[in-house]
Amino acid sequence: MIKVITYGTYDMLHYGHIRLLERAKALGDYLIVGVTSDNFDMARGKINVKQPLMERVAAIRETGLADEVIIEEYQGQKIDDIKRLNVDIFTVGSDWAGHFDYLNEYCKVVYLERTEGVSSTLLRSRDRALRLGLVGNSLFLEKFFRECKYVNGIEVTGLYTQRAEVFSEGMQKIPCVTKNYDELLNNVDAVFIISHPTEHYDHIKSALLKNIHVLCEAPIAISLNQLEELRDIAQKNNLILTDGLKTAYSTAYYRMLLLIKSGVIGKVCSVDSTCTSLRDSTEFSWNSITEWGPVAMLPIFQILGTNYESKKIISYITDEKNMYDSFTKIEFIYSSATASIKVGKGVKSEGELIVSGTGGYVYIPAPWWKTDYFEVRHENPQNNKRFFYQLDGEGIRYEIVAFTKAIKSSKPDLYTMVKKDVSSAIVKIISDFYNDEDKIILRK
Ligand code: CTP
Repeated sequence: MIKVITYGTYDMLHYGHIRLLERAKALGDYLIVGVTSDNFDMARGKINVKQPLMERVAAIRETGLADEVIIEEYQGQKIDDIKRLNVDIFTVGSDWAGHFDYLNEYCKVVYLERTEGVSSTLLRSRDRALRLGLVGNSLFLEKFFRECKYVNGIEVTGLYTQRAEVFSEGMQKIPCVTKNYDELLNNVDAVFIISHPTEHYDHIKSALLKNIHVLCEAPIAISLNQLEELRDIAQKNNLILTDGLKTAYSTAYYRMLLLIKSGVIGKVCSVDSTCTSLRDSTEFSWNSITEWGPVAMLPIFQILGTNYESKKIISYITDEKNMYDSFTKIEFIYSSATASIKVGKGVKSEGELIVSGTGGYVYIPAPWWKTDYFEVRHENPQNNKRFFYQLDGEGIRYEIVAFTKAIKSSKPDLYTMVKKDVSSAIVKIISDFYNDEDKIILRK
């Protein structure tokens, strides 16, 4: 019996896939189809896949062409599979020509002509692309714009900024570049807002009232009343309003949360995070608490919850008129745990995250907010474990994928990683900072 094996993602199974499978089957007597796992696809940068693994497997089974379906989970697995399953022929489409020649050592390699004119990528982009507008004066917009190119189904059609440097060379093709916010809103279905936090409320409200979905760099607002009002409008109009916080979309960070929840370090007693950078002295600069506060607080609220009993904000204010804190430290007291953040925009420190528990601790080295790596450490170093997960584009592209999926899905909460209670808790702290609640001020 001649055994044939072939691999693929098989997202939104199409005619090209079927033709490939038919010809693969005809090469022998028994066809094994390897379907890539969601994680494996993520790790190799295939972030736009629409159907989850089990749906893709079911579609392959329904063709009746596969005698056996296996899951492909890691780089190099093909060699293992070929040996383990006694495969005679490995085959894939000609788009991979040459790529798998190294498998000739284990079996025969056949490249089959790829079917022209159809692909999963093409099918995914068949729906009208979401028109996205970029809003703000931060140079981060350029990075965000570049990351949008990795995401199917979204197209940047507008830019609203007051700052000339934001409009970079790559942005020349954006059709609507304007200093008039209403004009921008007339040309988009969704916006990414990174204007100054004091402007978020106005920018978000105008967008929502025009039926436009909003991804806004955290903090969404600087008062809880504002936040609630905005959420109300979003809900009534069936619109997405969610926090931009790229760290929440990093695979390593998310896996770390899951590991902690599953008890690998016992009961968590303390979460301590530090995020700092030196000050850029432009008029557009955010202060420490708005620039770094949301991300620094994220692991605290996601691990310990948002029901802390008390807190103390200690801020080193270097510009009273603009409430500019060069450094802020916040201590949180929970009923059976404690937490702290140190944020600086003008003061530098080690940007690490440490989660301490009764059975060990998690350590994420600086800069922890764009991590692809963390360690779970124990009393006995032999029990320590290291974890690495690929992070492409600092998590920004995963955030954009999640935003587009949330907009198109009837279950948006499945995709947005910053839940409403966490977002509210962040806004509450920012609001207390501005209202001098539970706050000690250090002056120059
Ligand atoms: N394939 C093919 N003809 C096509 C599309 C795919 O022969 N028009 C083959 C590929 O060469 C591969 C298998 O089908 O052997 C699975 O391909 P996969 O990457 O899942 O499909 P694509 O449509 O190429 O997906 P994408 O657009 O996401 O890259």
